[in-house]
Amino acid sequence: MTNVADTWGINPQQFWLRGQRPEEPVRFDPETGMWNVYGYPETVRVLGEPGTFSSDTLRVLPDSVMRGNKAMREGNLVQMDEPDHKKLRRLVSEAFTPKVVADLEPRIAALTHELLDAAAQRGHLELVADLAYPLPVIVIAELLGVPSSDRDLFKQWVDKMLEFSGQFSLVKQSAEQDRALEIVFEQRRQLTEYLAAHATERVQRPREDLLTKLVQAEVDGERLTTNEVVNFATVLLIAGHITTTMLLGNTVLCLDAHPEQMARVRADRRRLAGAIEESLRFLSPFAAVGRATTVETALGGVRIPADKLLMVWIAAANRDERQFARPDEYDASRDPNPHVAFGRGIHFCLGAPLARLEGRVALGILLDRFPDLRVDPAGPEFIPSPNMTGVRKLPLLLAS
Ligand code: HEM
Repeated sequence: MTNVADTWGINPQQFWLRGQRPEEPVRFDPETGMWNVYGYPETVRVLGEPGTFSSDTLRVLPDSVMRGNKAMREGNLVQMDEPDHKKLRRLVSEAFTPKVVADLEPRIAALTHELLDAAAQRGHLELVADLAYPLPVIVIAELLGVPSSDRDLFKQWVDKMLEFSGQFSLVKQSAEQDRALEIVFEQRRQLTEYLAAHATERVQRPREDLLTKLVQAEVDGERLTTNEVVNFATVLLIAGHITTTMLLGNTVLCLDAHPEQMARVRADRRRLAGAIEESLRFLSPFAAVGRATTVETALGGVRIPADKLLMVWIAAANRDERQFARPDEYDASRDPNPHVAFGRGIHFCLGAPLARLEGRVALGILLDRFPDLRVDPAGPEFIPSPNMTGVRKLPLLLAS
């Protein structure tokens, strides 16, 4: 069976991940001062034990990093521990119900057709620019209630943040790293300012959107502060689009590299959901999540002191042969497929139902409209960050 990484041969991350398993499920990296977790059982334990492995990683970071991050802390669901996390998660889950997500299906379908119409007229399709980037951004922007026409601005901010993610060391601080962090903080500041203006406006003039629901929501009689609303909206805007962009691109890439599986999915569209799950396992978009130890603990045969930073490589855990048979093969019919691409436990991805829906609807329409679709032999361009597994360019040929 062919392997998509071998086919294109240009995603160094996949080769790097393979080298780590399973001999060293947990390894200290003196270059970055962080503990890397690569194994599946170790990852499941870390994500399932939030008392020992805190999501509040900011508290163990050096001052140089904290400076710009302090304002981001409040309301940043991903980096909160219990009991605050539970309170906020309950509140935002009320605004983000399964019904709210399911009701988006016709809008996702209409947007997909609109975006594909424009590309079809031109006769060629660059999947990321033409569909995989704009679709999730428009959906999340409309849901929040910010103008989706501002998406070039969001892209500019997020692209700059990504450029420097994964190039960070706790031990080797340098002027170069400081400069990179300044750029990241500046992007966050601009995004935060933008969202704060919208949130403040909703307090005065409520509308039918998620931002209004957030400024009006109450937990135990308390409202969220503007800062909490803004930080949560920032998480949604960032987490809500780049990851789904990668999911769409990766699934097309995987199916294209396996024509026999593409044919089975085309013949029976119910197989698409399995193809999406397997692409999440095989090329996990959000490759790593961070945690900090609250006490000294043993993990994967290694002792980790308290207050240390862990990089939990869910992309590597998803390739652990102790959990998955033939882990380096893409198999759209893999069942069960207990991948951890959306995390596990209390921080399990809030947007997973939306990402799955967008994947199923958009890719279903793409396959329907273009029966001869294939990846341009010129090949894809991968995102250079080691923390992200996905393409930033995926040219497609529409006719054979
Ligand atoms: C959390 C991945 C799409 C919103 C997470 C986590 C992962 C993840 C791994 C856990 C982080 C941790 O444990 O530290 C993904 C992937 C996606 C995706 C692979 C698409 C393929 C989305 C979308 C949204 C979203 C579409 C929103 C519209 C969130 C939020 C959290 C989260 C709010 C924090 C949950 C919490 O801390 O309780 N996501 N995500 N994600 N995701 Fe996603």
